[in-house]
Amino acid sequence: MKKYECVNLTIDGDVATVQLNRPEKRNCLSPTLHRNMVDALKEVAAAKCKVLVVTGSGDSFSAGMDLEQCFLEPFDDPQRFIEINTPCFEWLTHLKDFPGVTVAKVNGWAFGGGFEIASICDIVIAAEESVWGLSEINFGIFPGGGATWSYAHNMTRKQALFYALTGATLTGKQAVDLGLATMAVPLKDLDAEVAKWVANLTQKGRAVLRKTKEVYEKSLGMTFQESIGWEMAKMWELSRETNDDWIRTALKSFAKREFKPGLQSYQLTKDV
Ligand code: COA
Repeated sequence: MKKYECVNLTIDGDVATVQLNRPEKRNCLSPTLHRNMVDALKEVAAAKCKVLVVTGSGDSFSAGMDLEQCFLEPFDDPQRFIEINTPCFEWLTHLKDFPGVTVAKVNGWAFGGGFEIASICDIVIAAEESVWGLSEINFGIFPGGGATWSYAHNMTRKQALFYALTGATLTGKQAVDLGLATMAVPLKDLDAEVAKWVANLTQKGRAVLRKTKEVYEKSLGMTFQESIGWEMAKMWELSRETNDDWIRTALKSFAKREFKPGLQSYQLTKDV
């Protein structure tokens, strides 16, 4: 595993953790951090991790783009401006398209790009005390770099436009009510809550996690009838990939009353 200047990457079996690491600057996203994230996410993809946890060090998740290094300083040199900011779009796209499950552990401030990172993850577990905001309007722009897409895909129109137009902050607890976070727990319980759900996810098969995400995303743009056809095709693909493990192992085990699928996962024999 490589060492990065602004990111701590750990890979432990099926679980990767990426910690944004510029605590003195509230983990805002500098050009170096963007380049580190491009490389770190490539490492995670190569390791075929089932779960990727994204979090921040210190008291912040992320204060968003580094307003000085990414915007102010390079602004008069358009070529440099583009060079600095393009890696950001690259790693955010990789995060959104990550085949495993992405879990944002929101431990503190989450503004602008930080708000976006959480919004594009699959599962968000936030500290109740965390503070979120689409603060772009407060310095005269609108949320860019995918941030508009990400808040629009998580919130209702009335809520989305309120927060984008006013720059009002919200807490981790409110983030749950607004559809931005899956759950919120007191900060002191955050590590344990994330560990619990990560353990749950790693019991599932790699292929079924990947396909569940893929089918969900595709179905959003389909009619009901189209979705049924797509699900059938993907179901047979999954069955082939896993050597029909769901029938051969899981449902045979259920027939012997060895486990209750309503309450627990079956014991995988093939994890592709
Ligand atoms: N870009 C550049 N520097 C940032 C930053 C950002 N997005 N967010 C924080 N910093 C820097 C501060 O300038 C300060 O630097 P200094 O120590 O050299 O003075 C340092 O990080 C600590 O920030 P500070 O404001 O003192 O911390 P705080 O805990 O009192 O407040 C925030 C935290 C997040 C509320 C505040 O820093 C802030 O409003 N940041 C900008 C958030 C934002 O609008 N992000 C959207 C970007 S798209």
